Amino acid sequence: MKISVIGTGYVGLVTGVVFAQLGHKVICMDKDRGKIENLKKGIMPIYEPGLKDMAVKNHDEGRLFYSIDIKEAVQKSDLIMIAVDTMPKENWQTDLGSVKSVAKDIAKYMNGYKIVVNKSTVPVGTGNLVDKIIKMNQKKKFKFDVVSNPEFLREGQAINDTLRPDRVIIGSDNPSATIKVVQLYQDMNTVIKITKLKSAELIKYASNSFLATKISFINSIADIAEMTGSDVDEIAEGIGLDRRIGREFLNAGIGYGGSCFPKDVGSLIYTAKELGYDFTILKEVKRLNEDRINRFFSRIKKSTNLKNKTVSILGLSFKPNTDDLREAPALKLIKLILGEKAKIRVYDPVAMENAKKILKNTVEYSEDMNHCVNKSDIVILVTEWDEFKNADLKSIKSLMKGSYFFDGRNIYEPTIMKNLGFKYFSVGR
Ligand code: UDX
Repeated sequence: MKISVIGTGYVGLVTGVVFAQLGHKVICMDKDRGKIENLKKGIMPIYEPGLKDMAVKNHDEGRLFYSIDIKEAVQKSDLIMIAVDTMPKENWQTDLGSVKSVAKDIAKYMNGYKIVVNKSTVPVGTGNLVDKIIKMNQKKKFKFDVVSNPEFLREGQAINDTLRPDRVIIGSDNPSATIKVVQLYQDMNTVIKITKLKSAELIKYASNSFLATKISFINSIADIAEMTGSDVDEIAEGIGLDRRIGREFLNAGIGYGGSCFPKDVGSLIYTAKELGYDFTILKEVKRLNEDRINRFFSRIKKSTNLKNKTVSILGLSFKPNTDDLREAPALKLIKLILGEKAKIRVYDPVAMENAKKILKNTVEYSEDMNHCVNKSDIVILVTEWDEFKNADLKSIKSLMKGSYFFDGRNIYEPTIMKNLGFKYFSVGR
């Protein structure tokens, strides 16, 4: 099938590359000329394991094309995927400006029947809105269908998640359009769930909000564990053995970040409010998460004085295997620590360049972990990169001047850390 993907952000680029890999002819279109020129040269706008090699291979072999021309993208494809940004406004309402503008362009340039597939995370009802906008702006009344096919990829594992998804959700009110989209996925060994258009849109928000709820729940249990001297990791193992609950997404820590959970939780609360429904559980999930860093910071301050101390921050990205700093807990924490007049040194295996653009000269940048902890008074681990999990802790201790180690992701064994001479603090243990 000839596919166009409008928007080469995380979702759009990975989706386009994977469908090219599966043998389709794909045009990845973006209005950002610089991004498209870079992609043509094999320069990726994001760090994602395996992406570059797959993109370059498919581009060289003539299945993957890059374009800044939406007219070309619309006219040369049978199926158009919308994967543009859907950022929240200040009140968490989703800004649909980009989606609406793409819908208008599709209407303007259509030259035959098209299936318009919405991949962006959009509030329930947006599919109908896209349908309406296209109908209103069409020059010639070509037929088209709008389908919702939300993306569930995780950053850091995006290629694998897209090639081998747990499930594919296809929401449409037209069976013939549904079948065409099902065909795209039929060679993947996965469950395909066909739903109403509006259900598919809500499945995406309900999934992310449920996962966020799991995290805020276990973080609250961690607080209780801390107060009672129990161990949240043991509790997570214990409850996770119940198949109805499951062990995944029960890792306590300093809270969730990234481009999806905060945005999607906020957006679902907003949608509910618009419908006259007060989504109190989700409001609390959001509040608890926003308070995570404050609690962790209070714990650090209660344990040691930060003024004029050298504090090493290990990990900046919101989670491992990505250079993404959107809603990264590290940034919030650094701001609080700077307020205490401490000197901060940071290290992240891949997010340093992005960090420099945000943190500028407020912190010192280290090229490796050893340099970062050298002569430091306090080490704070924020992101659970493998490099940190496998670190030589003895040598870290000997490089440090002080012995305070705050682990925001529970990656070390408390007894081992204590025996090495650290004053070790983790979450809920
Ligand atoms: C998420 C969804 O998993 C994915 O399906 C959706 O398409 C986009 O949003 P992503 O944002 O890439 O993916 O990250 P994910 O791996 O889900 O982690 C989200 C956040 O939750 C991270 O900040 C992570 O550190 C945190 N987290 C995750 C926890 O704090 N504890 C856990 O047990 C799991």
